[in-house]
Amino acid sequence: MSKRTAITWFLALALLAAGGAFAEGLPKGPGVELVYAKCQTCHDLQYLYDSQGITEKQWAAVLGDMKEYGLEVTPEEEKKILHYLGTYMGPNPPPAAPAEASAPKAEKLDGAKLYAQNCAGCHQAQGQGVPGAFPPLAGNPELFNDDYPVLVVLFGLQGPIEVKGQKINSAMPPFGHLSDAEIAAIVNDVRKAWGNDELTPKGLKPLTPEGVAELRKKALTPAQVHEQRK
Ligand code: HEC
Ligand code: HEC
Repeated sequence: MSKRTAITWFLALALLAAGGAFAEGLPKGPGVELVYAKCQTCHDLQYLYDSQGITEKQWAAVLGDMKEYGLEVTPEEEKKILHYLGTYMGPNPPPAAPAEASAPKAEKLDGAKLYAQNCAGCHQAQGQGVPGAFPPLAGNPELFNDDYPVLVVLFGLQGPIEVKGQKINSAMPPFGHLSDAEIAAIVNDVRKAWGNDELTPKGLKPLTPEGVAELRKKALTPAQVHEQRK
């Protein structure tokens, strides 16, 4: 092979290696849920991957820009996000946690705790939502619309909806970085919480990680998920 071809190959492989580093999503660490929730409503995470390696101070400057673009965070959330970015996306990230630690066994998963960590920031602790902004999940019949709630969590949602007489036209970011078992645990929990068990159709089987894995293959856009809504 010519020298030039060799160099092209080398670059291609280097790029592949760089991209592959994030195939599993962001490095796990405290605050990562907030980054997923707050940083992909306007753009995907590629911008974050591209900026990896800058210091916490430089991340603070980036966040300043994002706030001018419209990012909404409380001072508390901003502190957590900055700490996460400065540590895990900073100049000296700790070595990745072993795969076992990042993929806990299904039976150990606590759906209610996962809900509190990943969903309650928007849908609120009792699933009551925020009028006009975040739809209630308590008493929401869409939770029993076939695979729809799983698709929303996997791929996000975009488009006008109406829940309990409330109109919302917003977007939810995807949570596909959660494992199949975690998503199954969250949706199973939400379907039983806050009186939702009264809406549960008789004989509805709990979701399994395998079931979620099947749905993941659909790779829908948030707008396509909206088409599945009743
Ligand atoms: C309200 C919309 C919005 C939100 C939310 C948002 N961004 Fe951005 N982001 C932008 C826009 C607009 C750009 C600039 C796009 C361009 O220049 O093409 C950008 C660009 C970036 C860039 C590229 C470098 C730069 O400064 O232009 C990084 C890094 C970034 N965002 C990180 C984040 C992080 C981290 C979060 C979450 C804490 C976040 N963004 C949330 C709108 C947003
Ligand atoms: C960053 C805020 C935010 C987070 C975090 C969030 N959601 Fe949402 N969610 C929304 C918004 C906004 C909508 C409505 C989107 C629209 O208007 O199309 C929504 C819609 C939904 C719907 C569809 C409701 C309906 O009536 O069609 C379900 C189900 C849902 N979310 C579940 C979850 C679960 C489970 C989690 C945690 C894994 C979660 N959400 C995390 C903002 C969020």
